[in-house]
Amino acid sequence: MAIKVVVNIPGHAPYDVRIGNGQLEGLGTKLRAISSAPAAFVLTDSNVGPRYLEAVRRSLKNAGFRTTAVTIPAGEESKSVACAGELWHAMADAKLGRDALVVALGGGVVGDLAGFVASTYMRGVPFVQVPTTLLSMVDSSVGGKTGINLDAGKNLVGTFCQPLYVCASTDTLDTLDAREWACGCGEVAKSAAIEGDDFFFWLMEHAEAMAARDAAVVQEAIARCVTFKADVVARDEHESAGVRECLNYGHTYGHAVEKIAGYGVYSHGHAVAEGMRFAARLAVAYAGASEEFAQAQDELLDVLGLQPLDFAASPQEVLDCMKGDKKVRGGKLRYVLVRDAGDWSVETPDDGAVLEQLEAWMASKRA
Ligand code: GLY
Repeated sequence: MAIKVVVNIPGHAPYDVRIGNGQLEGLGTKLRAISSAPAAFVLTDSNVGPRYLEAVRRSLKNAGFRTTAVTIPAGEESKSVACAGELWHAMADAKLGRDALVVALGGGVVGDLAGFVASTYMRGVPFVQVPTTLLSMVDSSVGGKTGINLDAGKNLVGTFCQPLYVCASTDTLDTLDAREWACGCGEVAKSAAIEGDDFFFWLMEHAEAMAARDAAVVQEAIARCVTFKADVVARDEHESAGVRECLNYGHTYGHAVEKIAGYGVYSHGHAVAEGMRFAARLAVAYAGASEEFAQAQDELLDVLGLQPLDFAASPQEVLDCMKGDKKVRGGKLRYVLVRDAGDWSVETPDDGAVLEQLEAWMASKRA
């Protein structure tokens, strides 16, 4: 049975996130019940399209939508200004009006890009997320962040735009490889650590089942992540009230790992997990956290298949990279530190304190 989570963000119409097996078939009917759009523009990529595009188009067509589909090359490179430009042209060529619907069928890249072009074409047309990776089901498809990359950095151009509906058909996860699976588990662990004891202890208890992809556990984990994220976003949609920043736990160091190692060397979720390990050490040294939480978190990440990375770099290079992140404000690094499950705060440790911890961390990597 599918689980429905309602995302209710002030100033927006509430929208449903439906999580369960076999949801693609009924997608058209579901969308027809909430939209009178004559046309749907489906964006997918070269990995996902061959598997699911036909079923999605059929479902939309049966519900009376005229459909146009564009398949982009799979991979982060597609989140570009050039690709966004091509999509705007394709939407105009398909004669889409403001009453059209954009459907994002794929992982985070497709979702971010489709959301971006939908929110800018004709000053905004509604869009629907159909996430097909664990990472996008538990995080990027919900909450309305859209974006594309520039040479200067990832997601430097984007909008906040909430989807009309999110369809998480969990059968689409069956084809994910082990790396992609663990990658999504990184974001699940992140959510559990910041949500609190309830989710963190539940995940500790079910970590093996999660790693083994037990269907009921996976469905519940996704629902827990979405419920938690919906609450965070409802309190701070634009990441301006010091609440949504908690979702960046593990990302400050994690982004530096991804960038210094070269994008794609480590998956995003693996880099975030490594960032959580480092942040836990920083919390012990800087924010009075106990070693106990850091150890529990390490064990959880191990069981989820997110072993420590062999990544080591010069501490100064890592610090400089972290300070180049778009989350720095007034030259100050803003670090999400978790003292215990759910007990988090955003701290601005000075460079000396961070450098000291980076030195100790890199030394432990070399030992
Ligand atoms: N992925 C973090 C956020 O949506 O804020």
